[in-house]
Amino acid sequence: MTEHACLGDCRTLARIDEVSNAGAWSENAFYESVMNPSYAVIVYRDEEGEEPAGFIVCEFQGDLLAIDEIAVLPARRRCGIASALLNVAAAEGIRRNCKEITLEVRSGNAAAIAFYDNVGFQAAGVRKGLYKDPPDDAIVMMKKLTQ
Ligand SMILES: CC(C)(COP(=O)(O)OP(=O)(O)OC[C@H]1O[C@@H](n2cnc3c(N)ncnc32)[C@H](O)[C@@H]1OP(=O)(O)O)[C@@H](O)C(=O)NCCC(=O)NCCS
Repeated sequence: MTEHACLGDCRTLARIDEVSNAGAWSENAFYESVMNPSYAVIVYRDEEGEEPAGFIVCEFQGDLLAIDEIAVLPARRRCGIASALLNVAAAEGIRRNCKEITLEVRSGNAAAIAFYDNVGFQAAGVRKGLYKDPPDDAIVMMKKLTQ
């Protein structure tokens, strides 16, 4: 099941992020996003009350929906969890009149790029040297949001 995160999820989200993303967010960064009405933090859990196995953080920026962070526990990947989370985020973006969905991904993150390709994103540009530790370029990807 997918649903909006609660504050009690933030420690688990930081742990999932830690094992998934370079530059992972702190528990406090998740906490602030859950509290901020310009953001949506959506989690996937197997059953009500269980710890999340994946999450997406997105930000509503006028007619743009920006994906800030997404991750699934390593043992739970390739089961459609991230696709389900992205669909829920996109539906919420449409409800809030967003026309496009966008994100930045490390050029070396082949798995994530394959995932975004699979769900219909297209590369729209490169931000040279955006990432540090380790250094990498960012690929900007976009997708139109349609009903
Ligand atoms: C990217 C990520 C969120 C995908 O999550 P997921 O739940 O495994 O994705 P899904 O199961 O919904 O994948 C849907 C499709 O995307 C593609 N895909 C996903 N992961 C892939 C991989 N590692 N290699 C190739 N294709 C992949 C496949 O076409 C897949 O369909 P299939 O499994 O039927 O072949 C996950 O790998 C992850 O947490 N990675 C670490 C964090 C990260 O890189 N986040 C993105 C930062 S921008």
